[in-house]
Amino acid sequence: MPLSAAAVPPAPAEGEPCNAIFESAETLALMARRRSTKVVHFAAPGPSGADLDAILRLAARAPDHGKLGPWRFVVIENDGRARAGEALAGVSADAQSAEIARATFLRAPVCVMVVSAAAPHAKIPEWEQQLSAGAVCYGLLIAAHAMGYGGCWLTGWACYDARARAALGLAEHERIAGFIHLGTPTETPTERVRAEAGARTSRF
Ligand SMILES: Cc1cc2nc3c(=O)[nH]c(=O)nc-3n(C[C@H](O)[C@H](O)[C@H](O)COP(=O)(O)O)c2cc1C
Repeated sequence: MPLSAAAVPPAPAEGEPCNAIFESAETLALMARRRSTKVVHFAAPGPSGADLDAILRLAARAPDHGKLGPWRFVVIENDGRARAGEALAGVSADAQSAEIARATFLRAPVCVMVVSAAAPHAKIPEWEQQLSAGAVCYGLLIAAHAMGYGGCWLTGWACYDARARAALGLAEHERIAGFIHLGTPTETPTERVRAEAGARTSRF
């Protein structure tokens, strides 16, 4: 049974003391064991209303150089899923890909499109703004998992197609950091091969 927004502590006020240290065995276990759900393994319910808002609020606490908030969320849920799929179908190359596009957002109850709005800035490189959008995506996954939902971070052709981005309502400079599909897993995922930290670590 997923947790509700009531399980998420309120946002601290600006300037309020927070936790530089936050021992949490549950967080360690979650990070050691959580897995994404394959997009074909989602059923209802997904997070909605105040519960989804709480997940987005946690994701928006991602590190963000310069406090720019260089990203935004587009929630694709309910009949918005078919409309977003139709928008992609409208810019698809042929009838077969249009059919696949129509099903894009019907596979899970909810999809959050994380949009990177990185733009030239006097002090903060665009690269750092894009990294922040990636951190938002991961934070969204972690928050959704901790609340008891399955999640899956996908991209795909629409992210790299200017017409598709425009069809989904993005401005010309915006990019899609990810489609985060959310819902109830219908299968228990198994572990995948992981990049080994040791083999990728050196000491200076
Ligand atoms: C930016 C980004 C885009 C991704 N796009 C896809 C995708 O389009 N299709 C796919 O099968 N997996 C994609 N993945 C991989 C999955 O989201 C996920 O990382 C992988 O299945 C392992 O999941 P887990 O580590 O959360 O268990 C993407 C990952 C990232 C970081």
